[in-house]
Amino acid sequence: MTKKLELYKCNICGNIVEVLVSGIGDLVCCGEKMEHLTPKNTDDMTTEKHTPEIDNYNEGTVIRITNHPMENEHYIMFLQGQTEDKNELHIKFFYPNETPEMSLADIHNIRESISYCNIHGLYEKK
Ligand SMILES: [Fe+2]
Repeated sequence: MTKKLELYKCNICGNIVEVLVSGIGDLVCCGEKMEHLTPKNTDDMTTEKHTPEIDNYNEGTVIRITNHPMENEHYIMFLQGQTEDKNELHIKFFYPNETPEMSLADIHNIRESISYCNIHGLYEKK
């Protein structure tokens, strides 16, 4: 059984999917059950950060990753911010040499965020 906003990865082809509506079935890709990605919530690396920062301002909210490479071989692929009840989410994709930062004008209710690094996987901030 899946849960809303869980992420699953195919370890054969690399597909990553997010659940919008949960169901009782297992997710399958390339003929095999997909891996449920469990986010880490602490950064175990000293030089690079994966845990998103959520900063609230009068103008809105900024979600960012500071101090992480954005190189062809190693970069943050996306950031997602969501409300605590998971009924509203915002996602932004990134590519090498970009800044992993998402500005949400006039949005003040983001309480959780996830990031995905192409090498180190999924991290969350609650
Ligand atoms: Fe990384």
